[in-house]
Amino acid sequence: MEVAGNGNWNLKNTAPSLPVPSVQSIADDSKNCSEILEKYVIPEINDSLVLNGAAAGPGDFPIIDFSRLCKQSEEEIAKLSLACEDWSYFMLINHGVPDEVIENTKVAIIEFFRLPLEEKKVYARRPDTGFEGYTQTCVISEEQEVVSGEGHILYTRTVAGRNMKLWPQNPPTFRDAMDQYTKEIQRVANIVLESIGKSLKLDKLIDNFKDCQQSIRINYYPPCPHASNVLGLNPHTDTVGLTVVLQVNEVDGLQFKKNGVWLPISPVPGALIVNSGDIIEIMSNGKYKSLEHRAVVNSEQERFSIATFHSPRADAQIGPLPAETPTKSEPFCYKTVSIEDYFRMVFAHKDDGKNILDYMKLAA
Ligand code: OGA
Ligand code: NI
Repeated sequence: MEVAGNGNWNLKNTAPSLPVPSVQSIADDSKNCSEILEKYVIPEINDSLVLNGAAAGPGDFPIIDFSRLCKQSEEEIAKLSLACEDWSYFMLINHGVPDEVIENTKVAIIEFFRLPLEEKKVYARRPDTGFEGYTQTCVISEEQEVVSGEGHILYTRTVAGRNMKLWPQNPPTFRDAMDQYTKEIQRVANIVLESIGKSLKLDKLIDNFKDCQQSIRINYYPPCPHASNVLGLNPHTDTVGLTVVLQVNEVDGLQFKKNGVWLPISPVPGALIVNSGDIIEIMSNGKYKSLEHRAVVNSEQERFSIATFHSPRADAQIGPLPAETPTKSEPFCYKTVSIEDYFRMVFAHKDDGKNILDYMKLAA
């Protein structure tokens, strides 16, 4: 396992979110995935019902007011608790990330993906870059699922652990925009994690996320004429603690699975989408579940997004946290392992189609 320049182990050789099993790459060097897909018999992707009609908007799922979390509003923390228990994701409003920071981030992401393929491939993920780097995905899995999209993963915090060789210099605003944006999102994530800890009465939770490790995945889903048969990201849960998603250009695509139904979430200007991941499920001993989600593609419109992932600090243990004031003893349902072993397991099993939680669960 790689040791970062600051002497701390970090996630550089592991995976914060590895949603796409690259079983058979069919168009790594192609600009036009959709042309290549013509040659394949593509099955229907919607094995589960998708909620038809308008995508879910505000009012259909929980909205949490960040400014009230900052004031430690008990009412808002109770709402957060319900949101995490019933949904595991919510919209976050009044987060205070300056419009200018969001605007610069959007411009930088769109301009980066507009670069010629050759230029983007300079930052390609290679064995020595671990989970970081640029990937153009056009894969067909053993189950004949087709996935098409582009992504660039960067480790953003700790700052000392960054691999600047993978940080694009074009557009020239990219590095500064991502630095500013991820700093703001970390501020937001810290308060949300602290509030999650309070809502669970697990005050220790936030200690694990002090100096937390942060990474981003910027996503580009080109329009695809076979949209109903092609996914942008395979169904997955996020292996991290907390994810914050910004739907960059306000095109639908993100869907969460609730009660067996895929529920699309329309972007809401100014709101962030937050979801708790596998590590919160483990730390809360299963109280806050990590929810499966995926990205679909659009036949006419391109879509951009940025997911920012937060994982505990480099020396944390991943396992259920003991309650501050123990009530009746509740058996722990998950193992406790070092974060290093946790992500090693994630990485080792990324292609076997199983969820990391299957490996972390203790036999009942
Ligand atoms: C992810 C993710 C959703 C999106 O990168 O893990 O779930 O809308 N992204 O792109
Ligand atoms: Ni995800």
